[in-house]
Amino acid sequence: MNPAGRSACCTPSSLFEPARLASENSRLNFFVIGLVGDTARRNKEGGLLMRALRQQSLKRHSRKDPRYIATVRQLLASQAYRESMAAHLFGHALKFVPELRYKKIIASHIVEELEHYEDTVRLYKELGGGLEALVTSQLATGQKYVPLAESWLELAMAQFLFDRAGEFQLSLYRRCSYAPYARIVGKILEEEEEHEGFGERVVKEFCKDKRRRPLAQKFFNKWLGVSLLSFGRPNSAANRYAVEVGLKTRESGEVMQDFINDIKPVMRECGLKFPPKNRIGVELPKNVDLKL
Ligand SMILES: [Fe+2]
Ligand SMILES: [Fe+2]
Repeated sequence: MNPAGRSACCTPSSLFEPARLASENSRLNFFVIGLVGDTARRNKEGGLLMRALRQQSLKRHSRKDPRYIATVRQLLASQAYRESMAAHLFGHALKFVPELRYKKIIASHIVEELEHYEDTVRLYKELGGGLEALVTSQLATGQKYVPLAESWLELAMAQFLFDRAGEFQLSLYRRCSYAPYARIVGKILEEEEEHEGFGERVVKEFCKDKRRRPLAQKFFNKWLGVSLLSFGRPNSAANRYAVEVGLKTRESGEVMQDFINDIKPVMRECGLKFPPKNRIGVELPKNVDLKL
């Protein structure tokens, strides 16, 4: 076929005529497309600039908005609970850790979790209020609880999943519009990476023996749900507001999927499977991909 889309049976003149017309048409098209493209590009650039200015102004004004401060308090309270929970969980399970060298590593993780907890308490105080008293009362009244690990493997699974979920969740706040929070997040992230890496190594080692895998699967099912709770409900109004005012960079559901994708290689290596969606016990994003 020639460029005009005609077959080779045509006479030479009819063969070239459509080609010439096509060529003129295409020049015209390029011109029109050029104009449209230019306008579209200008509109797009203008739109992006306006959006950036609107967001900047929104962020500036939001900081005086009571809803903004209440959201910061809420996210600090949630993180404080998770940090304190990790410290108690590791502390309780120290007796299951088999060797002194590992006990020392877990003990150092406990101290780090308490320091993360302390960071959130300190920030909360600057906004006015006592976060330590709040978390203590939530735990004492059963409003919140600490899920415990009952073996060395379960502790490792909890670190692999819960600390990793914490890392993904916190990464949303690296560029938080509430700058004091963004500052503490960087340090915490580095330490969480080490905790979950340690848990991952122990889980992999344990699962080398295929006979142990059903037990690993049981702990995986329990800690997957606990870990996914760290992200909060996907696509909630509170979530959308936090993204809108720049407190976090992305919606929870997207990060939940990133976390799920990130644990898949270890799951494949260890022969672990996702439980059915309705047994995970957490609201998942609509189109969540659990394929291994
Ligand atoms: Fe932590
Ligand atoms: Fe941790």
